[in-house]
Amino acid sequence: MKTSSDFVHEFVPGTSGRTLLLLHGTGGNEHDLLSLGRTLDSTASLLSPRGKVLENGMPRFFRRLAEGVFDVEDLKERTHELADFVAGAAQKYGFDPAKVVAVGYSNGANIAASLLLLRPETLRGAILFRAMVPLVPDQLPHLSKVSVLIAAGNHDPIARIEEAQRLATLLRDAGAELTLHISNADHGLTGEDVDVAKSWLAGGINLQ
Ligand code: MLT
Repeated sequence: MKTSSDFVHEFVPGTSGRTLLLLHGTGGNEHDLLSLGRTLDSTASLLSPRGKVLENGMPRFFRRLAEGVFDVEDLKERTHELADFVAGAAQKYGFDPAKVVAVGYSNGANIAASLLLLRPETLRGAILFRAMVPLVPDQLPHLSKVSVLIAAGNHDPIARIEEAQRLATLLRDAGAELTLHISNADHGLTGEDVDVAKSWLAGGINLQ
């Protein structure tokens, strides 16, 4: 299936060199994470696309066959499409494509992890809230210049803690500088997640 690399999206220009790529969860849209993005970084540009796949009317970034069972072919195609969109947006809006940090929640975190695995040049860093292993690539990418924060909840019935740990191991094996934060939470985001992500972004990754 051919898909166009254009996405319905929001772009909010910032005053620093960093751009946050905001990737919403299932049923979300391009507006969902704008205020979270601004809370995490008051100066970054914000690029927030809406997932193109509809599941019972709910936008997602790739198809799934059941909860936690992904359509891997679709995921691969959508990952490349999203990477191409980010590269095109960098040209269109004039931001530095080497200073993009993904902030993904749930389904959005899963496609952000897939970007790291299949199109590593797209991201300098990633904050993955409630993420799973989206796929295991044939060859691990080289992620030695990439910093990743995985924020998991130890009561999460969807993105289970073992999945977050598997993802952490996979990304570490690929060379990423990896922080795994486990909080006493379920699938929903908490204030602790926001605080941890904000200080990780402020201290852990220097793009200026
Ligand atoms: C997914 O489909 O990406 C995960 O199950 C998370 C979600 O429910 O969106």
